[in-house]
Amino acid sequence: MAFGLFKKSDKKQEVSSGPHYYDLTVKKLVEETKDSISLVFEQPASGKLKYKSGQFLTLIANVGGKEVRRAYSLCSSPFVDEDLAVMVKRVDNGLMSNWVPSNLKPGQKMKVLEPMGQFTTEFAKENKRHLIMFAGGSGITPMMSILKSLISQEPESICSVIYCNRDVDSIIFRNTLDQIQTEFEGRVHVIHILDNAPMNWQGYSGLLSKEMLVKLFERIPDWGLDKTTYLMCGPEGMMKNVDTLLKELHIPQEKTFKESFVTGVIDKEKKEEVKAAVKAGNTSHEVTVRYDGQEYKFVVEPNRTILETALDQGIDLPYSCQSGLCTACRGRAISGKVKLDEEEGLSQSERAEGYVLTCVGHPITDDVVIEIG
Ligand SMILES: Cc1cc2nc3c(=O)[nH]c(=O)nc-3n(C[C@H](O)[C@H](O)[C@H](O)COP(=O)(O)OP(=O)(O)OC[C@H]3O[C@@H](n4cnc5c(N)ncnc54)[C@H](O)[C@@H]3O)c2cc1C
Ligand code: FES
Repeated sequence: MAFGLFKKSDKKQEVSSGPHYYDLTVKKLVEETKDSISLVFEQPASGKLKYKSGQFLTLIANVGGKEVRRAYSLCSSPFVDEDLAVMVKRVDNGLMSNWVPSNLKPGQKMKVLEPMGQFTTEFAKENKRHLIMFAGGSGITPMMSILKSLISQEPESICSVIYCNRDVDSIIFRNTLDQIQTEFEGRVHVIHILDNAPMNWQGYSGLLSKEMLVKLFERIPDWGLDKTTYLMCGPEGMMKNVDTLLKELHIPQEKTFKESFVTGVIDKEKKEEVKAAVKAGNTSHEVTVRYDGQEYKFVVEPNRTILETALDQGIDLPYSCQSGLCTACRGRAISGKVKLDEEEGLSQSERAEGYVLTCVGHPITDDVVIEIG
């Protein structure tokens, strides 16, 4: 969901033949905390890979004999940084987040899917806005890119970063955030909140509450609702909490934009409900998918998603998280009805315009036609 002064763009991805894959060369791996690394890639010699701040790369690797894809938000800024960088935080027993730091070395190649994602905005030097970012843990990654782009491209805009972490050692990009705050004093405010603060901690600690948020808002400039946009990215609990608090403070829903990294955000009950409903219909439906100048027709069985069925048939459609979070598989249903296991990844207006996510989508009529890209 693009945010900011601009209306969400329905511009097509710049794709000319199927999803674009790149073999990027690893330039370096930088340890950010004990369980997170920045993975820096050289830009391809054949031409710079274009991306927008807030978008993600999909890393593709063979892990244990199986292709694994995962989305990682770019923390580099297309306006400021020469290289491309993502930040990977280790997840217990996670396939990709453990494979990357243990297997990748400078000079090696890594297959990636072109940058994608709607958690982004257009920058313009005449803009005058205040972005208030709520980040938790690895959720700082897209914020870092947006922050760097905002301060370099919009001299009159400002940014406040409210960053929640477990403890001091788990603060990712701490030095960079400090440096940016010092360099852009008055335009960038960084406030840390820790679950477990040390004795000498000068900042905030504990769960973000309404009282705490009111106090925090007193410490950062108030530019009024018109000029302020609220962004959030972090663990499910933190996002839900911030969402509730902003509602309590009467911040309209259309001023807040979210990026979810974790499938836990999905309402599991709803997913099961949709699956049960689709299965109860017990009917297969034919689907037509138009993508990149090609038209594909295939039958989707109950309890299978449109993307799963396409992949089974060797059709190379764009996708990344396969969980209804990242929108890499987004298409518009120009006819027929599609039920989604998960709708969180789409804004209300996208849903109203007929957008669907093939990775969590089931056709429930026979006339479904989806246009991707
Ligand atoms: C749009 C988008 C952008 C993302 N950007 C980033 C990023 O910048 N940096 C980053 O580190 N990750 C990011 N992620 C998450 C990333 O794609 C992977 O999901 C994450 O690294 C776990 O992958 P894995 O293969 O290691 O774990 P898996 O093998 O997929 O999962 C192992 C177990 O861990 C659980 N799990 C998965 N992810 C998490 C999590 N984040 N926290 C806690 N438990 C989890 C799973 O439910 C599962 O039980 C992003 C995800 C999306 C959708
Ligand atoms: S692949 Fe991520 S939303 Fe479908």
